[in-house]
Amino acid sequence: MTETALTVHQTTRPYGFPAAEHFAFVESAVPAPGPGTALVENLYWSVDPYHREMMDGEFALNAPLEGRTLGRVVASRTPALREGEIVFHRRGWRTHCVVTPDEAHTVPRFDGVPLRARLGILGGTGLTAYVGLTRIAELREGQDVFVSAAAGGVGTATGRLARLMGAGRLIGSTGSAAKAAYLTGHVGYDEVFDYRAGPPAELLAKAAPDGIDLYMDNVGGEHLEAAISSLREYGRIVRIGTIAQYNSTGTPHVLRNLPDIVEKSLRMEGFLVRDYREVQEELYEFVVPHLQSGRVTLDETVSEGFGSIVDAFLGMLRGENRGKVIVRAAGADV
Ligand SMILES: NC(=O)c1ccc[n+]([C@@H]2O[C@H](COP(=O)([O-])OP(=O)(O)OC[C@H]3O[C@@H](n4cnc5c(N)ncnc54)[C@H](OP(=O)(O)O)[C@@H]3O)[C@@H](O)[C@H]2O)c1
Repeated sequence: MTETALTVHQTTRPYGFPAAEHFAFVESAVPAPGPGTALVENLYWSVDPYHREMMDGEFALNAPLEGRTLGRVVASRTPALREGEIVFHRRGWRTHCVVTPDEAHTVPRFDGVPLRARLGILGGTGLTAYVGLTRIAELREGQDVFVSAAAGGVGTATGRLARLMGAGRLIGSTGSAAKAAYLTGHVGYDEVFDYRAGPPAELLAKAAPDGIDLYMDNVGGEHLEAAISSLREYGRIVRIGTIAQYNSTGTPHVLRNLPDIVEKSLRMEGFLVRDYREVQEELYEFVVPHLQSGRVTLDETVSEGFGSIVDAFLGMLRGENRGKVIVRAAGADV
């Protein structure tokens, strides 16, 4: 084990798009676990858009950033966390941390499934897609679904899960033609448009001329307005995120077609995945067999080395990722 620990701090608040200068990598000695705690050496970090929202005020400056992380217990002073065990915790964006048994829990291993899937389709990202489809949208076989930010972590998981659940036409939007081709070629989408090629309302109307039943909204703004126009009577909107707004300094897009929600008896509902932890086992049962059979493969952008975590985060905000963004510690071998 190395002697020095690295921690990422946010140093200033961004206005609009963040940059590397809003962060600092801070060195310290590797901490020693006190009684009832364990030292974890982190192996994989999840990179998530919610960090951008927290950067505006919720993250304390010049303090370690949180983050969903998988690591190995390397020294322990509690029987609840054994040396060598792989644990999940939320005190990431650092190479090492001391955790209590309440802050970390072991993760099940599944034959043939890489550990890092627990941060992607088997983790909060996949759970968001699964809860959105099963608990909020209540997807039924044959229903036509539109997904925005379809090439990201939640978007690819939503596409894969909706396909397994018997969805009808699957329509997606993303920020480049290459990502659109990946979604139709590998993930199971029927049609995907590049939202930079024109107004989303026109592009969606062309991609789904007969309308849609469900909209899985990762983006908000113009995408949401487009979906409201394309939804059929009694359609549903699942509000997952609002990434079009996270880096924007302008006035948020005003929805001009709100009367359609009344006229078409639409239902719109948001949720936070953290309120659905009890669905985690059900997600494993549903997805793991498909990962093991190869019917579902991982959509991920894996960045090498903890030192790349800030760049991976900024790249994700710019749309450089395909699937879930994960950072792997140098030499991580599980
Ligand atoms: N409700 C919950 O509990 C929950 C849990 C997890 C995530 N979320 C939300 O789910 C959404 C997706 O999260 P994720 O982790 O899967 O991230 P992600 O989709 O892997 O990464 C973000 C993607 O957003 C797209 N994007 C960036 N700026 C955009 C803009 N102005 N307009 C449209 N698309 C833009 C980019 O792809 P393009 O190339 O396509 O632009 C980028 O790849 C986010 O809104 C996040 O906040 C919610």
